[in-house]
Amino acid sequence: MSLVVTGATGHLGRHVIAALLDQGVPADQVVALGRDEERLAGLAALGVTTRQVDYADAEGLAAAFAGADRVLFISGSEVGQRLPQHQNVVDAARSAGVGLLAYTSIPHADTSGLALAVEHRATEEAILASGLPHTFLRNSWYLENYTDQLPTYAEHGTVLGAARDGRVSAATRADFAVAAAAALLLEQPKAVYELGGAGFSLEELATTVGEVLGKEVTYTDLPADELTAALVGAGLPEPFAATLADADLGLARGELYVEPTDLEELLGRPATSLEDALRAAL
Ligand SMILES: NC(=O)c1ccc[n+]([C@@H]2O[C@H](COP(=O)([O-])OP(=O)(O)OC[C@H]3O[C@@H](n4cnc5c(N)ncnc54)[C@H](OP(=O)(O)O)[C@@H]3O)[C@@H](O)[C@H]2O)c1
Repeated sequence: MSLVVTGATGHLGRHVIAALLDQGVPADQVVALGRDEERLAGLAALGVTTRQVDYADAEGLAAAFAGADRVLFISGSEVGQRLPQHQNVVDAARSAGVGLLAYTSIPHADTSGLALAVEHRATEEAILASGLPHTFLRNSWYLENYTDQLPTYAEHGTVLGAARDGRVSAATRADFAVAAAAALLLEQPKAVYELGGAGFSLEELATTVGEVLGKEVTYTDLPADELTAALVGAGLPEPFAATLADADLGLARGELYVEPTDLEELLGRPATSLEDALRAAL
């Protein structure tokens, strides 16, 4: 069985390669795709085959998918440019006649109002139109989106957001990766997995951060434009800041909330909790 993982050089992808090997897949059955030479070399050192290919390179993708039984398609990171890139991946998978195309998407991709959901929804539609056997791994937010901000939370004593009391089903990349590897190896995975850990509000996030840091941390809810301005003031590029504020509005609408059952089913255990992830990050 030949398993191809796109975006294997990224944070999630590297966890996926590790999870596949951990779940007993022989390294010579794994093909890791990415663009970054240094990180590809790091993956090659694990014994897997590596190929350097850009999602813009239709021919390169076709060559990389030749002979593949199953492909895990990790969504690209160039927001706004992903439609043609992702269409190339789907076309190459169809030409290669892969037996399963697993795509990392976003919760409720077919109905979500998040700006980030637009490209995921279009990609899911392209996969459906391809007629390929598929599974959509609709990953909610990464816990790392929050744990990476621990120093900022500690410095300012507050978590900024625009999510009101909306709950987010964040989980660690490592858990999403183990789940993706498990889905890829299932005889017949479900067509859609809505994946996330136990949900929490940003107020609960602030409380838990405070407990872990041993100091009071509050949640400050802002209008989305004020959150965008605050993030720009902290050094984020405006489009990225606006995307994060938009995601918080989606969070307020419950669009990044899912029941934890699908992730638990693939993991065979509960997902890593917010508190454990924060303590590990600390
Ligand atoms: N759920 C969330 O909270 C969340 C947050 C951020 C992102 N995401 C999505 O989840 C994906 C994986 O997350 P991550 O943390 O692993 O992101 P990441 O570390 O930025 O990795 C992105 C991966 O996609 C590859 N890639 C990007 N554009 C490409 C292109 N044009 N052609 C070929 N490969 C390309 C990168 O390859 P190279 O590094 O080799 O260039 C890398 O392997 C992201 O790309 C994004 O779509 C989700």
